[in-house]
Amino acid sequence: MADLTTTFIGITSPNPFWLASAPPTDKEVNVRRAFEAGWGGVVWKTLGAEGPPVVNVNGPRYGAIWGADRRLLGLNNIELITDRPLEVNLREIKSVKRDWPDRALVISLMVPCDEQSWKDILHRIEDTGADGVELNFGCPHGMSERGMGSAVGQVPEYIEMVTAWVKQHSRMPCIVKLTPNIADIRKPAEAARRGGADAVSLINTINSITSVNLDSFSPEPSIDGKGAHGGYCGPAVKPIALSMVSEIARHPATRGLPISGIGGVTTWRDAAEFMALGAGNVQVCTAAMTYGFKVVQEMISGLSQYMDEKGMTATADLVGRAVPNVTDWNQLNLNYVTKAQIDQDLCIKCGRCYAACEDTSHQAIWMKEGRVFEVNDAECVACNLCLDICPVENCITMRPLAKGETDPRTGKVVGDYANWTTHPNNPMAQAAE
Ligand SMILES: Cc1cc2nc3c(=O)[nH]c(=O)nc-3n(C[C@H](O)[C@H](O)[C@H](O)COP(=O)(O)O)c2cc1C
Ligand code: SF4
Ligand code: SF4
Repeated sequence: MADLTTTFIGITSPNPFWLASAPPTDKEVNVRRAFEAGWGGVVWKTLGAEGPPVVNVNGPRYGAIWGADRRLLGLNNIELITDRPLEVNLREIKSVKRDWPDRALVISLMVPCDEQSWKDILHRIEDTGADGVELNFGCPHGMSERGMGSAVGQVPEYIEMVTAWVKQHSRMPCIVKLTPNIADIRKPAEAARRGGADAVSLINTINSITSVNLDSFSPEPSIDGKGAHGGYCGPAVKPIALSMVSEIARHPATRGLPISGIGGVTTWRDAAEFMALGAGNVQVCTAAMTYGFKVVQEMISGLSQYMDEKGMTATADLVGRAVPNVTDWNQLNLNYVTKAQIDQDLCIKCGRCYAACEDTSHQAIWMKEGRVFEVNDAECVACNLCLDICPVENCITMRPLAKGETDPRTGKVVGDYANWTTHPNNPMAQAAE
């Protein structure tokens, strides 16, 4: 059986599934129950500076987007960092770590952007026994207006400066948690590395308004008729997170920097995808908030079975496996030609593929007598739209044309790999000749 033990920046945990810094990790009673359920580690809910704790709203703090089956797809929150006293959190962290030495316990931190504040908090957490710190440069609401969270994460110079303070004043491994609310995720990751970060974690939540009440005209969640943008997470954000993780994994200036993957991880498969794109482990929040702590048991057994099937004995065998296959558009093989094909035995004759292709793609699906739908290879550009909107799984598949076959649409014979950089229509390629 595959060994899921993971060592991430020197922190060992029995599996790569950590709970992200959020409500599931905000107190001892929760974290103990999470460890009992099998979580490999936790990042404790973000601690702030000594003094009166932050104050949360007393009305609703979440908004949501659901699928047609009412499954939660996206969650929006306007919660701040921990609103429990610092010394209570520190006492609890110490007690949990003492009883669960084999689990990873990382403390998330967010204090004002001055060296003394960071020095003070690092000093306070020193004797908790925690395995590391995560710098929360990601929260996009509330704290950012006070010059913390994403206000730091959006300025690479600040990231580098604060990370360097943390490395100077602490011996703990340091993870820098990045905000996705930025144009180019590689810049903050580079800054974290320059500052001496041991790893980056991403993503924190995405600026969002989930809906507007059309009676009261208040954004949701509504606090006495007003709403503020919140942070979006859950399954809906996974594609954004995967792309950002892969960018950091393949960028020359950040390649090799350990990554903790976060954003919509709900199943073992999500976790495996993050890991294949370069994440050494994953962190989870919304899935635990939706399904409870025991969801980790499915993740553990699923990942373990997958690794066994693939002959992988350790998580390191999986990490980064897909990175070499992430490339730029101009490197894609323009001689890779496919055609949609419909399995008539599976087709339920709903006609969606016909409507989609006829109205918005390439008029490549015939509707024949008796509502028989067939693809016209001479028009099909292989866009995939019919496959994506067909309600029956595997009813439409894409058939690659073999080398030497003629594409009935273009009349050209399928040849060897060739990309845009050498294509005759590329003015840059012509200029280079
Ligand atoms: C209610 C709530 C509170 C959160 N609080 C924090 C926090 O205090 N510190 C932090 O770094 N991230 C916080 N997050 C962000 C999560 O740690 C995580 O980055 C994000 O939810 C994406 O993961 P997910 O899609 O698995 O939920 C919070 C998320 C939620 C939903
Ligand atoms: S792949 Fe695109 S072009 Fe081809 S049949 Fe489907 S929708 Fe039409
Ligand atoms: S969308 Fe799928 S099921 Fe519906 S007609 Fe097309 S092939 Fe058949």
